[in-house]
Amino acid sequence: MTTLQEVRAWDAADPLADFRNRFALPEGVIYLDGNSLGALPRATAARMRDVIEREWGEGLIRSWNEQDWVSAPQRVGDKIARLLGAAPGEVIVADSTSVCLFKLLMAAGETRDGAILAESDNFPTDAHVAGRVAQLLGRDYRSVPRAEIADALTSDVAAAVIAHVDYRSGSRHDMPALTARGPRIVWDLSHSIGAVPLDLQRDGVELAVGCGYKYLNGGPGAPAFLYVASKLQTELQSPIAGWFGHAAPFDFSTTFEPAAGIGRFLSGTPAMLGLLALESGVDLMLEVEQAALWAKSARLYDLFAARMVAVCPELLNITPAQADARGSHISFAHPHALAIVRALIERGVIGDFRTPNIARFGLTPLTLSYEDVWTATETIAEVMASNAWRDDRFNSGGIVT
Ligand SMILES: Cc1ncc(COP(=O)(O)O)c(C=O)c1O
Repeated sequence: MTTLQEVRAWDAADPLADFRNRFALPEGVIYLDGNSLGALPRATAARMRDVIEREWGEGLIRSWNEQDWVSAPQRVGDKIARLLGAAPGEVIVADSTSVCLFKLLMAAGETRDGAILAESDNFPTDAHVAGRVAQLLGRDYRSVPRAEIADALTSDVAAAVIAHVDYRSGSRHDMPALTARGPRIVWDLSHSIGAVPLDLQRDGVELAVGCGYKYLNGGPGAPAFLYVASKLQTELQSPIAGWFGHAAPFDFSTTFEPAAGIGRFLSGTPAMLGLLALESGVDLMLEVEQAALWAKSARLYDLFAARMVAVCPELLNITPAQADARGSHISFAHPHALAIVRALIERGVIGDFRTPNIARFGLTPLTLSYEDVWTATETIAEVMASNAWRDDRFNSGGIVT
């Protein structure tokens, strides 16, 4: 069994340890929710002050050109492409994940006959969007449990949305194997980008979307990204024709002609403040060697899982043990998971709860030390052993997001 002394030695030798100082994390908090809302990079606070006071305040409308705001969706998209194993021009930043998904699923569905398929236990927005896309396209809508999705990818399916890493259990699909089955898949990479190694080109992925506010640390409600493999870009059309997706927006033509490349998936004026905050988070992530990031994530998981077996076996680990079958969070089932998570938050150990019975803890290697995991598991054990979670105030009240 690993000792606290050994864990401290791992921290002392951790090549990523210095990244923690690049984030403005409050004292006394062990933040295990960077998979839901990433922490604030110090550089982002400074960047936003400059963007607001100088670029907007002084530059005013001139900044669209002088600060190159106008090409920021493509520029930040190209940076995200490096984390995805995609080429420049294949990714653009826009909207929310839900809207990006709507755009790509509609576009994909239009190119082929057949049903629209979703995972019934995926993050609800994906199934909501897919159901509506099926309705709008006049297609059958199919929804099957995540565990059965491979068999449901049949030749009579036009397009499917699949989460690469599941938001609840953290299980990870075999992306190349599912992609090879034929139907067009829009991959939801919300719990993958900045968390697990990705190589969309190698894996033959055609379409993907993902969140900016989780592991990319882009800030609350940061814009999302969408990826369209270059070979598909002229074939696919956005269902929302808008002036920013026009081939020449500033010609103000009354006839819509989509931009030649990924820019056709823009619709309206990009939300510049959110976009530039996201860029700052992405820049930080690009400094990190992704293999080292994943190696630390895997070790954080192993430590968390082993400690829980040792000190708190009544919480059942539902995240796959095999590293390449999971993402970068660890989840435990317990009938009172919500009260347990609330009691932990009061103790400064911030995870979250997902229905019906899951306590979820994000393992973000840039902000967590191995000793944090040690302390968090000690705190969970204390909450369970003392029955602290049974207190009334943890069994009523507001939601935990
Ligand atoms: C897998 C997944 N997809 C989509 C979303 C929602 O994204 P948005 O709020 O940007 O539409 C989330 C949010 O947590 C998510 O976990």
